Amino acid sequence: MTTTQLIALDLVTATATVACWLAAGVLAAGTLASGAPTDAAADAARRRRARHALALIASGILALLAQAAVVVLLSTRGWWFVQEKVVFALPVTLVATVAAALLAGPALVRIARGRSASGSRASVTTAVVSACAASVAGLAARQLVGYPLTLGAAATLLLLTTLATWLSYVILAGLGRRLLVGVAGLTALVVGASVGSAWLGDVAAPGSLAAAHAAHAGEAAAATTPAGSVVSVADLRTPAEASPTGDVKRFALTAQQQVVTLEGVGTVNAWSYGSVPGPEVRVTEGDLVEVTLANRDIGAGVTIHWHGYDVPNGEDGVAGVTQNAVLPGESFTYRFTADDPGTYWYHTHQASAEGVQRGLYGTLVVLPRGGIAEAVDLALPVHALGGALLMGDATTEQRRAVAAGARVRIRLINTDQVPRRFRVTGTAFEVAAVDGRDLNRPTAIEDRALRLPAGGRLDVTLSMPNSPVRVTTDASPRAGLTLSPGAAARSDTAIEPHDGPDLDLLGYGTPEAAAMPEGSGTVLASMVLDRLPRFRHGLPSVAYTVDGAVFPHIDSIEVTEGDVVRLTVANRGWETHPMHVHGHHVLVLSRNGVPASGSPLWLDTFDVQPGEVWEVAFLADNPGIWMDHCHNLDHAAEGMMMALRYRGVTTSFEQGGAHSNRSE
Ligand code: C2O
Ligand code: CU
Repeated sequence: MTTTQLIALDLVTATATVACWLAAGVLAAGTLASGAPTDAAADAARRRRARHALALIASGILALLAQAAVVVLLSTRGWWFVQEKVVFALPVTLVATVAAALLAGPALVRIARGRSASGSRASVTTAVVSACAASVAGLAARQLVGYPLTLGAAATLLLLTTLATWLSYVILAGLGRRLLVGVAGLTALVVGASVGSAWLGDVAAPGSLAAAHAAHAGEAAAATTPAGSVVSVADLRTPAEASPTGDVKRFALTAQQQVVTLEGVGTVNAWSYGSVPGPEVRVTEGDLVEVTLANRDIGAGVTIHWHGYDVPNGEDGVAGVTQNAVLPGESFTYRFTADDPGTYWYHTHQASAEGVQRGLYGTLVVLPRGGIAEAVDLALPVHALGGALLMGDATTEQRRAVAAGARVRIRLINTDQVPRRFRVTGTAFEVAAVDGRDLNRPTAIEDRALRLPAGGRLDVTLSMPNSPVRVTTDASPRAGLTLSPGAAARSDTAIEPHDGPDLDLLGYGTPEAAAMPEGSGTVLASMVLDRLPRFRHGLPSVAYTVDGAVFPHIDSIEVTEGDVVRLTVANRGWETHPMHVHGHHVLVLSRNGVPASGSPLWLDTFDVQPGEVWEVAFLADNPGIWMDHCHNLDHAAEGMMMALRYRGVTTSFEQGGAHSNRSE
């Protein structure tokens, strides 16, 4: 059974437990209220009700046992899937269940046998109510609190369970109006205080990056490194005197509102860096890249983040962390040396969910010194815009003549929010690189679809056959690329689309001795992804959470330069989260406990699907304050974003402020 199925089963059994005890409580109260029966028919009805109540109590016990069995199975998938169930939901429900069975069971059995009840109606029914309240608290632990369940949250839930039980006793035993109002008031007070403190924690708590900001102003010493040195992100930039071994390559990008015309779609009011996609930034290893971003009229502000390219922190383009948003009329120049050949992309990182979806993205390609083996080299960013899918800059099929025998490289780039699947048909191909890192001896494949997480890239290489080759995506029936050989080719031959399974990159290519350098220390970190009700910007929402919190309240992962970070990411939710790490590539160690078995796989974006657990590792070798977030940018905007912070790094930038910085 998959982890997601077990999570679903756990919810079903937990809900069934609540339902059983609720119905048992109602029936028990009714049975005990009816008093001694006056005639045979009434007696039979009463005995039947008692039997039904007993059956429901038995079902409640069975449902709890089923919960326990599911939790045992789920625990084999990782502690983060079961913590709140093991430490709270199961034991508390168990205690209440035993009490209910011991108190209500014998009383109902007596009635079912036609004798008079033992115990008062109030105490017997309250015992059943307590089991119901405890199982509701168990559901709340799962669906409201999530992982990790803290001591405080557990105590609050326990208190509410007790209060609900007491309240039911006060009502059933008729203990008087004053006590009723008192207990009800106390219950409301506890609920109000928990909601209020959650709200205060959202609006008034400073957030995890505030310390780095305060340290910048010298207001806090918390950010000092072991050596005591402090550096600001604004100083973690490419040195002015950087002397490239290659050329200085200058680009000027002007962010602007632009009406773009898409074939078959019409016009779209886009935001662009001059075109959609933005101008391709194509450089060669050793070059110094200098990109000046100007903002003509994007009122919300823009930046450029070099997705997947591990630039110095001050060039990373995150508004509110590494720079201020560039407002209309302003500009900012990014500089970095192109040391890492590969396929990357760039996009705004100021309120990026809206900006990127509207068109603020483009391609970054770094060619190796000496070039690549392929004569044909195409970058194909894929992007949904105005209800259509753009492959490159076209919504319809693009055709290219390629001489038979020529080597071809197609750089697939998913600039969207959701995973995209691609098919290369007409010939065998290799996946030569992923996320800008070459794979070790990739093998030829033919019958596999290529699944690309949001933000991810794949370089496909192939030798042009004497017949057409087609690249398609299941995200669009129209957009695609067809390569046709010369006139001799059967260029009109229809290509049968074939729908093979997805290529699993964790088993693709050839293993190589571990490439992970030794670190001077080891940091163990985990991120547990979920979707939970939380306050954001002071308003209630069903947010995307990491460890039960939302940005900017998620604790940063703190590292010292030289540490090896082993990061585990577990997804408790129902949606896929393409997790993206800025400034570093991570080596995939395992997924769902199964070690990666192919070529070393260095990624900057990895899809954590529902129920999955990924273990990755990286060397902390790029000091700064780096964002770490879901690249479904709507999820990031709804909380799923946090920071990786090197000790001693401070920032003068903050959320909001005069530039209305919004890091997500
Ligand atoms: Cu491509 Cu933080 O983003
Ligand atoms: Cu997500």
